[in-house]
Parts: sequence; C-alpha cells; structure tokens
Amino acid sequence: MGVRFKGWGIAVPDRIVTNDELSLTLDTSDAWIIERTGIKERRIGGSARTLGALAGQRALDDAGLKPQDIDFLVLATTSPDRMLPATSCLIADDLKMNCPAMDLNAACSGFMYAVRTAQGLLETGNKRILVIGAEHLSRWVDWTDRNMAVLLADGAGATVLEYDPDGNDLLSSSLGADGSAADLLTCEHGGFIQMDGKEVFRRAVRVVVDSAEKAMFDADIKSEDLSLVIPHQANIRIIQAAMKRLGIEMERAVVVLDRYGNTSSASIPLAFDDARKNGRIKVGEYALMTGFGAGMTWASSVVRWS
Ligand code: UT7
Repeated sequence: MGVRFKGWGIAVPDRIVTNDELSLTLDTSDAWIIERTGIKERRIGGSARTLGALAGQRALDDAGLKPQDIDFLVLATTSPDRMLPATSCLIADDLKMNCPAMDLNAACSGFMYAVRTAQGLLETGNKRILVIGAEHLSRWVDWTDRNMAVLLADGAGATVLEYDPDGNDLLSSSLGADGSAADLLTCEHGGFIQMDGKEVFRRAVRVVVDSAEKAMFDADIKSEDLSLVIPHQANIRIIQAAMKRLGIEMERAVVVLDRYGNTSSASIPLAFDDARKNGRIKVGEYALMTGFGAGMTWASSVVRWS
C-alpha cells in the first residue's frame, strides 16, 4: 500500500531574536554563535497549540482539504502547552476536528516518528492523517544559560498523509532509540533544558549516518540518487559532518537553521517548506529526511515526491 504527502504548512512567531540581541544579556557573541552553530537568528513566541494549529490549517489548505476530511491527528512535540491534556486535543478543537488526536514525544526526531506512525495508522484503515510538529522550546530555556539559549527556538510545520493504493511517497524508514543516553539532553519537570553538547554532537553524526544508510538500503537507492537531504536543524557542523560521511555534497542539504535555530520537531517541515518555496522539490526525485534528538532517538526516511 502507499502513502502520499498531500499538503504542507508552517507557522513561526513574528518576533525575531538576533544573535546580537542575545549578546546584550549573555556572555556570547554573534561571531561565536555563527561559527559554532550556523545560527544567525531565531523566532520566539506563541505556543505549541497556536503555532501547531496555524501550521495544521495551512497544510489542510495546501492539500485542499477540510478538518472533517482528517481521520487522525498526530502531534509531535517535546514542549506541550500542558502535561494534560495532550496539546493535539487543543489543536483539534481549534481546527474544529472531531477525530482521534494524540501527542508523540521523540524530541527532535519527533516529526519523522510521527510520519512513520501515520503510515502505520493508514495501513490499519485510516484515509488521511494530519501530522504536525510544533514546539514552544523558549518556555523551557533558562535565558541566563548561554549553552542552550543560543540554540533553541519556536515554530511549527505540518503535512497531510493520505492513503493511496496506487502509489507511494514514503519508501523506507529507519528509527531508533537509546535510553542509556537519556541524561545527555534532558528537562526535568519544572526545570530547564540541559545538554552535554559535545557528546550529543558526536553521537548525532553517528546515528544520522547509520540510520540514513539503512533507510537508503531499504529503499534500494544510493546516496548519489538523492537530490535533496532534509536534516534536523541543530547545528550546521553536525549537518556538514554527516553529509561528508555520507559522501553527499553540502549543496544537496537544506539549511534553514540560520533563520530559525533549532526548533526540534518543527525543524524538518520548516526545512521542507523552504526547499519547496525555492523550487528544490521536484516530482520523481528522491530525498532523505533525517532527525536525531533527546532520548536519544533518531529517524531517517527516504521519500520520492509525487
Ligand atoms: O537537537 C538536538 C540536540 N542539540 C544538538 O544536537 C546540539 C549538539 N551540540 C552542539 O551543537 C555543540 O556542541 C554546541 C553548539 C552546543 C557547543 O559547541 P562546541 O563547539 O561543542 O563548544 P564547546 O561546548 O566545546 O565550548 C567551547 C567553548 C567553551 O569555552 P572554553 O571551555 O573553551 O573556555 C564554552 O564555555 O565555548 C564556550 N561557549 C560559549 N561561548 C560563547 C559555550 N557556549 C557559548 C556561547 N557563547 N553561547
């Protein structure tokens, strides 16, 4: 059976926070942040609910669908508005949807986990799934901690996945999790996000490369067949290192972290949207979507655009 990506939408807060603005209150600099991360500015504001609902509505509009056409809502978020109820229920209410809704937390791999989950839901009889990745990470950042404050940001992206008996866009998925690395990137109840950046960096490159190679093997393609790589947007140096090890030129990677920072579950759809707006998504071509994050989790998928 097949799965089609039908429509896409994004939402980001209006408020732009530049590196220079952060340097006014933190012992950091525009030069350090750009050199070590590639980030120039980020968007701060909104909530997982408001950003997620807007991105979801835009994906529905893009697909030419109504909320009632959706059988299931899966929201990937690591920064839900409340512990209870699930933010997906709040978004479903905003969009006037009356279908099942659930949150999924796989941190920065969340969007790809949600896409794979949606594929499973389609395989068991649902016709259309709205998948949203939405984050309000700024709420969980200690704004006096330069280690995290320069990296994380807010945003949302969404897509509609539709059952299609005659074709398939989602060719393979390779997902994984390693809870023994849980303390490398963590946020306690009522606390702030903390990270062993160096160790996360080292492991991130490894799991991206391993899962990407497995996804390509399962899809029966080689790295030279990929016209585009849409990676999680954490650090430009992680993307460069992974692309180098995969033997793929950087020109084929989509990079938006300079404008959006690290938006966790939202970063892959934000990158997709940018690639589409710039005419980089071409019918019939292969792309790799790949993410990694707290857990640690990782997820790579090979897609072919129809
Ligand atoms: O979404 C998934 C999770 N996130 C990630 O994947 C992020 C993974 N890690 C990273 O991106 C990088 O490790 C960081 C960007 C977090 C840090 O970069 P780094 O090259 O690993 O820097 P570092 O931690 O080794 O720090 C180098 C120096 C240190 O000073 P000393 O000890 O050399 O004097 C830090 O104290 O840079 C200092 N530093 C900063 N300086 C200015 C750390 N953060 C900052 C800062 N501004 N914001």
